[in-house]
Amino acid sequence: MRAVVVERYGPPEVARVREVPTPTPRAGEVLVRVMAAPVASGDARLRSGRFPKGFALPARLAIGIRGPRNSILGTAFSGEVVALGEGVRGFAVGDRVSGMTGMRMGAHAEFVVATPAKLVATPASVTHDAAAAVLFGGATALDYLRDKARLTAGSTVLVNGASGAVGTSAVQLARHFGAEVTGMTSAANADLVRRLGAGRVIDYRETSPDELRASGERFDVVFDTVGNVSPASGRPLLTDGGVLLLAVAGLGDTLAARGPVKAGPASESHEIIESVLALTADGVLDPLIESSHPLDQIADAYRRVDSGRKVGNIIVRPTERA
Ligand SMILES: NC(=O)c1ccc[n+]([C@@H]2O[C@H](COP(=O)([O-])OP(=O)(O)OC[C@H]3O[C@@H](n4cnc5c(N)ncnc54)[C@H](OP(=O)(O)O)[C@@H]3O)[C@@H](O)[C@H]2O)c1
Repeated sequence: MRAVVVERYGPPEVARVREVPTPTPRAGEVLVRVMAAPVASGDARLRSGRFPKGFALPARLAIGIRGPRNSILGTAFSGEVVALGEGVRGFAVGDRVSGMTGMRMGAHAEFVVATPAKLVATPASVTHDAAAAVLFGGATALDYLRDKARLTAGSTVLVNGASGAVGTSAVQLARHFGAEVTGMTSAANADLVRRLGAGRVIDYRETSPDELRASGERFDVVFDTVGNVSPASGRPLLTDGGVLLLAVAGLGDTLAARGPVKAGPASESHEIIESVLALTADGVLDPLIESSHPLDQIADAYRRVDSGRKVGNIIVRPTERA
């Protein structure tokens, strides 16, 4: 099969399309033909070897010293079941499915091995592109807002980085849960963030999170998806009983996160994946696809992700040729 292989950490050009053996599903596993997969900020971290402060050594020990041991990246996908390992129940060849692969990765390829614990039927009204696009940011935003912050109707929420994969889902979900949403983004994305549900938009080039705090602004939930808010700078932005969500935190802040400060990897549970797709089918989550690419354009896709400016999501379609 054709797959994007990353042998050494580095710039977008280290991601190369290669012919590799098609994986075989073992007992309890499902082989899926990948129709679409996101090229996410998480993939860019793994490709480049750039991890949040303090994570460089533990991450490289866990993932690979000079390059990712699992050299085919891609942690979310949408596609069709092509083979079932022994003992798999509940799926049949030809089923439209979507899922996540965690640190096994492997979705930037024509075929990926999935586990039923993280594989769900794709709702009929959700396209492969939409399912693939929404999962990375949608699962993170749902886990952080619903499960970590226990967001309730009427709360005030600040989403810092409101136009990215996590931010666009966070704005839409927070609004869906009945919160009053303030989005921080650049002026170019203000209209989009408003359309997604933010009642108020702040241009971060004019007002930083620190300046917001200094001006006395307080929120029930502050969700940082950029990495320029720390526990020390974020806590004063909270109302009494407020919650600070740090999707991007260094090792020290992640280990120290307790009480109102939540950090760490987001859940990829079956329920979260299923809920994100159901919310997409219901029209609550618009997956916002900035661009889609055949595998051969993977370096272009990564260049845009690396820019830090992408709006929503970028996907690859492994069955498409350039
Ligand atoms: N903890 C977890 O499990 C978890 C899960 C998923 C992601 N993450 C992390 O969360 C972060 C965000 O991921 P993502 O995929 O959403 O990123 P992304 O899609 O690449 O974010 C790009 C967006 O960020 C905006 N942005 C850049 N600088 C900004 C600033 N200073 N203030 C406000 N907005 C800014 C850009 O808007 P402009 O062009 O307007 O600047 C752009 O639209 C990443 O670091 C990722 O590793 C963590």
